[in-house]
Amino acid sequence: MKVCVIGAGYVGATTAACLAELGHNVCCIDIDEEKVDKINAGSPPIHEDCLKELLQKHVGKRLRATTDYDTIADSDVCFICVGTPSGPNGEIDLSLIKAASKSVGITLKNSENYHVIAVKSTVVPETTQNVIIPIIEEHSQKKAGADFGIVMNPEFLREGNAIHDFMHPDRVVIGELDERSGEIVAQLYKDLNAPMIRIDLKTAEMIKYASNAFLATKISFSNEIGNMCKMLGIDVYDVMRAVGLDQRISPHFLQAGVGFGGSCFPKDVKALIHKAEMLGYQPKVLKSVMDVNEEQPERMICLLERRAGNISGKKIAVLGLAFKNDTDDIRESRAIPAIRMLLEKGGNVSTYDPLANENMRAIFPDVEYCHSAKDALKDADACLVMTEWEEFKKLGDEFNVMKNKIVIDGRKVITPRKDIDYEGLCW
Ligand code: UGA
Repeated sequence: MKVCVIGAGYVGATTAACLAELGHNVCCIDIDEEKVDKINAGSPPIHEDCLKELLQKHVGKRLRATTDYDTIADSDVCFICVGTPSGPNGEIDLSLIKAASKSVGITLKNSENYHVIAVKSTVVPETTQNVIIPIIEEHSQKKAGADFGIVMNPEFLREGNAIHDFMHPDRVVIGELDERSGEIVAQLYKDLNAPMIRIDLKTAEMIKYASNAFLATKISFSNEIGNMCKMLGIDVYDVMRAVGLDQRISPHFLQAGVGFGGSCFPKDVKALIHKAEMLGYQPKVLKSVMDVNEEQPERMICLLERRAGNISGKKIAVLGLAFKNDTDDIRESRAIPAIRMLLEKGGNVSTYDPLANENMRAIFPDVEYCHSAKDALKDADACLVMTEWEEFKKLGDEFNVMKNKIVIDGRKVITPRKDIDYEGLCW
């Protein structure tokens, strides 16, 4: 099939590359010429495992990128994969999706063919029906469900594992306005070995939010139990290892620590809270999930002050800046509030991250960015570990260069040793 993908972020680029891998002819559309040029040169516009290999395999054959929206006219299915960032009150900012819908509508107006529009961007329930469809109908002068098809097809891709998650999904969810639209998109995925849920538009939208909110809830729940475990001298990882063996619970997303970041969980939980409030409902669980998450970095700073005393004038090494391992993405990283608090308290901060130093420099230009953990630790009065990088698990003698070997671990990645003053956040 001929497919267009609007947006070359990690969802769009992954969707484009994987649909090409599934045998479809794909064109990725983005207004950013630099991203387009990169894709056409077989170079990933974002850091994503295995993306380079797929681009190099398919670019010039089944995959290309362009800035030209008219390409949509030549496609069977057009995916909308633009961002839906948080607005000031936690609601989603729909400006990018509205602009994309308008461009799609304008192109459809002059096209004779039947097209299906597939919304992959994360949008709160009722957005496809009440916002996206009216914009496309207005600008195309055509009727959804009759002249063009529309589905809401949420993604469940983890950054860093997005290609794997796309090719090996736990489920494919297709929210459809009508059967014809759903059937065409279902055909795109026919070679994936996964259950397919065909449902209506707003249910598909809610499935995405409920999935992310539930995973975020598991993390905040583990953190709350972890905070109690800390007071009781219990290792929460021993607790959750046993709890997770209950098949009804599963062992995943029970890793306690400094909390969740990234471009999805915080934004999506806040957006769902906002939607609930718009409906006149107070979502107590979701609010608590965010409250626990906000407090975890503060708890780390409290532990640090208890061990190291007044932070003012002290050198604190922060290991890990990315919101999780294997990505250079720092959006909503728990390192951001931690560094901010350290600076407010007069600390001198040295940092190291295998991939995210440059991204963090845009937020904290005056912090010291180092090329290795050892460089960041040199002469430090204490250290905070913020990201679950594999390489941090091997740290040992590197701590010897610290002035005071105080290590506060927010991710349970450091192996405690007799000669370091080690403190875990929830264990
Ligand atoms: C998340 C979901 O896992 C994907 O299924 C979803 O498609 C995606 O959001 C999205 O909505 O686009 P992602 O944000 O890439 O994916 O990251 P995760 O791997 O889920 O981790 C999120 C955060 O939770 C990270 O900061 C991580 O360190 C933290 N985390 C994760 C924990 O603190 N404990 C855990 O047990 C697991």
